[in-house]
Amino acid sequence: MNGYPERRMRRLRQTPRIRRMIEMELPAPGHFLWPVFVVEGQGVKQPIEAMPGQFRYSPDGLIEALTSVSEMGIGGVLVFGVIPDDRKDETGQPACDPAGVVPQTVRLIRERFPDLVVFTDVCLCAYTSHGHCGPLDRRGNVQNDAAIALLSRMAVVHADAGATGVAPSAMMDGQVQALRQAMDAAGHAETLIMSYSTKFASSFYGPFREAAASAPARGDRRSYQASFADPRRALLESALDEAEGADILMVKPALCYLDIIARLRERTDLPIAAYNVSGEYSMLIAAADRGWGHAHEMAKESITAIARAGADIIISYWANRYEEVVGGAMRQAN
Ligand code: PBG
Repeated sequence: MNGYPERRMRRLRQTPRIRRMIEMELPAPGHFLWPVFVVEGQGVKQPIEAMPGQFRYSPDGLIEALTSVSEMGIGGVLVFGVIPDDRKDETGQPACDPAGVVPQTVRLIRERFPDLVVFTDVCLCAYTSHGHCGPLDRRGNVQNDAAIALLSRMAVVHADAGATGVAPSAMMDGQVQALRQAMDAAGHAETLIMSYSTKFASSFYGPFREAAASAPARGDRRSYQASFADPRRALLESALDEAEGADILMVKPALCYLDIIARLRERTDLPIAAYNVSGEYSMLIAAADRGWGHAHEMAKESITAIARAGADIIISYWANRYEEVVGGAMRQAN
């Protein structure tokens, strides 16, 4: 191959129109899921301090916010329930309450926005008094099989309410198989499972744990979430979930794990979702607040990187702000 001066790379970069002809597009809004936090009550829209631009909504408050999200063409939502600390217990039973805030929200979205995709997070950490993702044994370890029994009940409750799909995030062994069997037995063979299949024990979940009040009271999640220093086992997690019947795999977080998304893309023909987590969102805003970058430009670059790595579905707190992000992109191009 001839190099300079025959080959001049800058020729193809001369004008915005030439560049735009050959560049990939920002993923369309239909590829996004917006993670949302719901609390009991009416007319609630409570700012989440650690995540500017994001709120805890009561079910009716969320419906209001969904009007613009739906008009933008965002694919759907991923719903997280948040309950007061004094309602939590050792095993996370409130997660299985058919009258709980998540099933209420799902029913309301189904009624008001029947075409939105509604996934629900299936994990116990926001419902246990100790903040771990399942009941603990005497030594303080999460009991795997007791957890999956509860998670299965929780998934059936969400499916009963009309969720398009459930998203198990507890990283318990066998959880996908258990959820599939439980939902099939309950007549929900059509309900999707989007497994948080490769979910890392990450320090980028901090703002979320404030939003969902789900930080572990003691210890960390390293005995169930994957290690960022052990990529082979992390990929094996996704392979196992595929074999257990997951419809969609997930890598989470996204930005430190683009290599994992790209490697998983080569190994599976299932759709891959990437979760652009709370820390990845808030750190851009924090930097922009200090004048160290433009939040929307950084968001656009992050989202493009995630799509480039091979993700089909992007779960991101930028979803409800999609038009702002695109606006930033347009300013740059012109
Ligand atoms: C529940 C769960 C977490 C996130 C999604 N589901 C927190 C955790 O595992 O501690 C994090 C999402 C984010 O940071 O945006 N297990």
